[in-house]
Amino acid sequence: MGVRRARILGHRPSAVAAVLLGLIFAACVGVSSVIGLAAWLAAAAFDWLWAMLACAVVAISITAAAWVWLHRHIFEIVPSASFAHGFDEGPWLSFRGDPRHSIVVNWFTKEDSASRVECGLRGASPGFVAGLPGRAHHVEIGGLEPGTAYSYRVLDFPKDGAFHGFKTAPASPEPFRFAVVGDTQNGGGSSPERWAYPPLLRAMAASGASLVAHAGDATDQGNDLVSWHEFLDASPRIIASIPLHVAAGNHDTGTHALADRSQKQYPDDGANYDFFFDYPYGTPRDEDEITAMRGRFFSFTYSNCLFVFVDTQTNRLANPRNPQWQWLRRVLGSAPAGVWKVVVMHRDAVSIKTRKDAVGYEMDYDKFAPYILPIFLEHDVDVVFQGHDHKYLHLAYQHGSNAPLPGADDGAWRGKVIHFVTSGAGGNLLRRNDPVLPESCTIPGFTRLENSSHFLVVDVHGDEMSIEARYHDGSSMERLSIKRPGI
Ligand SMILES: [Fe+2]
Ligand SMILES: [Fe+2]
Repeated sequence: MGVRRARILGHRPSAVAAVLLGLIFAACVGVSSVIGLAAWLAAAAFDWLWAMLACAVVAISITAAAWVWLHRHIFEIVPSASFAHGFDEGPWLSFRGDPRHSIVVNWFTKEDSASRVECGLRGASPGFVAGLPGRAHHVEIGGLEPGTAYSYRVLDFPKDGAFHGFKTAPASPEPFRFAVVGDTQNGGGSSPERWAYPPLLRAMAASGASLVAHAGDATDQGNDLVSWHEFLDASPRIIASIPLHVAAGNHDTGTHALADRSQKQYPDDGANYDFFFDYPYGTPRDEDEITAMRGRFFSFTYSNCLFVFVDTQTNRLANPRNPQWQWLRRVLGSAPAGVWKVVVMHRDAVSIKTRKDAVGYEMDYDKFAPYILPIFLEHDVDVVFQGHDHKYLHLAYQHGSNAPLPGADDGAWRGKVIHFVTSGAGGNLLRRNDPVLPESCTIPGFTRLENSSHFLVVDVHGDEMSIEARYHDGSSMERLSIKRPGI
């Protein structure tokens, strides 16, 4: 077993960002200089002292405002959680390397403290793993045996010094279960008794899942540290023993602490998300490269499942220059044959909506669909778990049968099926409503739409997968069985 690191996020810009910053700032100085020159000429020609003074003020103001804005958004992207989060959190688990051989223990302290974890085989004497001291503790434990049960505890952490257990991924494919939940945010600050997430967690904990895939919007506001506390404080009862991976949602972003919680603000840099989580992003993880457009996409293989987490946290990422599309092609294209390709993303890219005339339903493609759907079809993605819409939906999208995506090739992948499962009712008020069933929605592949609190339990057994949506009491909402095409 080996150690390895705790990390502290930095906030210097990348070289490209620094050059851009310099150019933009130089342009501002240039504009200000022109204004200043005009003022000087006006004053020289007409003796308009007031004009010179006014233009000087404008020029200085433009330069100062440009500097403050650029400094705050490029130089000074510091997660407010790194200095303002007033809670101890955790511990919780995640993957960074190979889930068969390593795991990351995460916790958070409101003051700087040591990073030490005691870990070992259950029943054997433990070893110690240490990382750098700090507030954000992400200690990776390596050299583990596949399919093996370990126990661990965080040292020097008065909030939770208990032993927790976890099991590494199996050495070769074997049946396993995972849970999916989305949009666990406590919108509007519902009281804990009415918040759907805690009872769903209890049901999830009893499900025997090996990991939790979260479809994003874990928090209500990424800028609001209390939102992070609510999520992290509620979660350790399950994720202290089961790794958690969250696809970045539009509510999870944000950097600065909100002074007024009633103000909803979702800036896109997402540094608080980076601070609390420590996922292996597809782009080189350089902690000095926190920028608004940095993609938070990553993947790992567990048993015979490739899990691919796609970043859709801001619509600005839905553009052809997004490096995520090349990464997606590479990751999906290099997956071994026989592996399930499971995508987890926040925005419900392929969905249905009520028709404009309010009679029935029609297909609904969001801004990401033109980029992701062709890639998913080309590389035979099996299932997409998505959130954002606070409901449950299952649609077995079949290329050529469903209303086409405008502009997309309609012939090359005719007949291919991708299961889009929206699971976005993991938070807000605990609720149960009547479903929409195929009798009233005749879209091909549609089975159910329901605005009820739920989570998903997914069983992978060789080439068969079952997906069951469950209510908070553990009872079943819908159960689907999928067989891999061509098997
Ligand atoms: Fe949401
Ligand atoms: Fe959302």
